[in-house]
Formats: sequence, structure tokens, C-alpha cells
Amino acid sequence: MTPETPIRLADDRAHVWHPFTQAQTAEPPIPVVSGKGALLFTADGREILDLISSWWVNIHGHARPEIARAIGEQASRLEQVIFADFTHAPAVNLAKQLSEVLPHGLTRVFFSDNGSTSVEIALKIAWQYWINCGAPQRRRYLALDGAYHGDTFGAMSAGASSGFYDPFKPLLFQVDTIPFPETWLDDPDVEAKEAASLAALDRWLDRHGNELAAFIAEPLIQGAAGMRMCRPQFMAAVVARIRSASGLVIFDEVMTGFGRTGTLFASEQIGVSPDLICLSKGLTGGFLPLSVTACSETIYSAFLGTNFDRAFAHGHSFTANPLGCAAALASLEITRAPETAQAWRRIEAKHREGMARLAEIPSLRQFRITGTVAACNIELPGTAYGAATSLALKKNFLARGLLIRPMGPVLYVLPPYCITDAELDRAYTAIAEVVTTISAV
Ligand SMILES: Cc1ncc(COP(=O)(O)O)c(C=O)c1O
Repeated sequence: MTPETPIRLADDRAHVWHPFTQAQTAEPPIPVVSGKGALLFTADGREILDLISSWWVNIHGHARPEIARAIGEQASRLEQVIFADFTHAPAVNLAKQLSEVLPHGLTRVFFSDNGSTSVEIALKIAWQYWINCGAPQRRRYLALDGAYHGDTFGAMSAGASSGFYDPFKPLLFQVDTIPFPETWLDDPDVEAKEAASLAALDRWLDRHGNELAAFIAEPLIQGAAGMRMCRPQFMAAVVARIRSASGLVIFDEVMTGFGRTGTLFASEQIGVSPDLICLSKGLTGGFLPLSVTACSETIYSAFLGTNFDRAFAHGHSFTANPLGCAAALASLEITRAPETAQAWRRIEAKHREGMARLAEIPSLRQFRITGTVAACNIELPGTAYGAATSLALKKNFLARGLLIRPMGPVLYVLPPYCITDAELDRAYTAIAEVVTTISAV
């Protein structure tokens, strides 16, 4: 291996703009030199257990050799080629293999390179689909309250209620929302919350059903909203109503896809196939930026014709990048191995154990688990983004070698599937100690 280039924090401070960061008050970033499995290794020799799969992407852990090898082999053959008028084996094989595992009927794949663009594309396809079908009056989108779909303008519009985009609000287009029935374990109010949400949906559909272009949702778990979870039967009831109004259903499985919720896709637990699905993050095992928006043949055929006006005039320089596709093929092979599904069940069982231990801490409430994601709320002052308790939690977790980033008052664990039981035990013990100490201050 070539020697590691030293990381100079002064150069980082002078030249780099980090995402979602208030640089004036933030601690200096942690220089990371390598990773293996669930661990990251820092320049100053520390080991950090990555309990959030590095923003939910590294589903198989870091530096997985099979994926690294696939990228290397592809790089020495073909690294990139224009994807209009040209094609290549990694993209074709990936599209075919995805269509074999995706929810029924999603057989047509459009590539892009991050979760936000996959959402942008789904929203644009839905919009133009209705124009191509001769129903241009279908121009309303509906979403769930609190949803997060990414940081480009369409995705921000669909996620406007997440509260991240205040400066941009005047630039966003209208997306209506219905309440999200946030649910936790043994929640006595779940049925009432779901009924209220469905009643709001019924009222909205009575007024606007024949103008609905598409409904978009993160199925089962709203990630950035704070790992807010709902029951599959609620999502199924929503989809049934949207379909009775002939609206399209977009499932944003950018975070939930590839096993996160304990099944390959959250759609499986809901028992429905959406008309469009958005995937990214775990698609390449977190190695390279790639995303897909897959849709049904019915949608695809609406774009066919002898006239270019009917075509979908959208593309990115790196559409279907061969390296990303090769990484995705290697990652998919690991994801489809029986041991991976066993890991989802093992992690869920460990979450149940760990969350039961945390339930003894009075400041922790609203425990929830779906597949490999576990979360709860910490009820202490100062847990807003950037506030004192929130910063203290992050700092204390890091001091104990844990990468956990509370989202406001929400503590969550979303590990790579290769994490061991011993690593999870260690993590839950340390979380309990940190929260107990901070609660006592
Ligand atoms: C559900 C969901 N959709 C879309 C996105 C945006 O993905 P990206 O950050 O790759 O643009 C995210 C990112 O966290 C997400 O969680």
C-alpha cells in the first residue's frame, strides 16, 4: 500500500467546507485514516466504533475486500463512459439484478449519483408521467409531516416540514402533508394516531384526489426526522387510499433499502410495491456515490413515442458510473447472502436487549426498533441541535470510542451488519454510562 498522506487540520480549516456544520463553533473534524468492519481508525491512533454506518451508508462495514476488489478490477477496465447512446456491463447487470430483488413490478432503472437526485428524478418522472398520459391537472404532491428526502430543491420541497430549510422556503414548490403517526414500543395511542392521520388523508383526497400526481414517503422509518417509526399496516392503508385516487406512490428507500428494516426493502413488510422507488446509501455498500430510481413498465412506457418531447430529458455526467455499478453488484451479492439476513435478525435481537437496559434510565423514553435501527428520546434540557447537552453527548460518546450523533433529542443506533454482538454489548454499556452521567449533571 502507498503510505498515507498526512492530514493537516490547518489546511482543512483553511480550505474545506464541511456539511451540516457550524464551522465557527464546531470541534475540529476527526482525521480518519482507515476502516475495517465496524471500526474506524484515526490519525492519532484511536479506534471508533461506527454505530451510524457513516451517515447510514456502510451497510457491510468499512473497507470490505470484495467491494474494494470489484472497484479495482472495474477501474482497470473502464472507469466512466457517457451513458446516453452508450451502455456497459456493470450497469446492465446491476439493473437486471435489482429488478430481480426489488418489490414486484419495479423493472426499469434510472441511475443517478445520490439520494437527493434519486428523489428529484422520481418527482420529475411522476410529474411528466401525468403530462404524457394527458392528465396535466395532476400536479399536486403529498408527503408525510417531518419527512426528509434530501437537500436539492425538489427533495427539499417534499421535506419542507423537516424544518431544515428555512432560508430556502420562498424557493420551494408546494407539497402538502398529512400527520405522521410516530409510534414507539407498546405505544397505547398508536391506533388513535393512525386514525387521525388517515382521516386527514381522507379529507385531503376528498378535496384534491383528482389533482394528485404522487405521494412520497420514507416507508416505516423517517430517518432524519429522528428515526420516527410507523407500523406497516398504517403505510399499507395510506397506499390503498392513494391508489384509490389513482395517485402514484413513491417510496424513498434511500435509508431503509438493502436490509435496514430487517427485510431487503421496507416495502416487503408493508406488502405493497410502490410505482417508484428511490435507492442510494447502501446501494454500493457505502463505497461510492450512486443511486437509482426504479419504476414500473407502465410508467416507463408512458415516456415512449416517436417524439422527443415525451422522453425524460434528465441526466447527470456520472449517470451509471461503472465503478459505482461494480461496487453495487459486489455489495448486492453480500446483501443477498443468507448470513446477511441472519445478521439483521441478530442485530434486532441485540437492540431489544440493549434498549431494555436503557429503559431503566429515567431520562430515556419512547423506545423504538425496526430491524437494524433502534432509537429513543432523551428528555433533558439542551438537546436541540448544537445545544449544550447534545454536544456533551456527542463528545462523551466519542471519548469512549463510539460514533453516535444524536439528532436533537434522539439517540439512535444504526450499525453496519458486520458489527459483532460483543461490539454491540460494549456500545450499549457505554451509552448507558454516558447518559446516566450526563443526566446527573
Ligand atoms: C430517506 C432519505 N432520502 C434522501 C436522502 C438524501 O440522500 P443524499 O444525502 O445521498 O443526497 C437521505 C439522506 O439522508 C435520506 O435519508
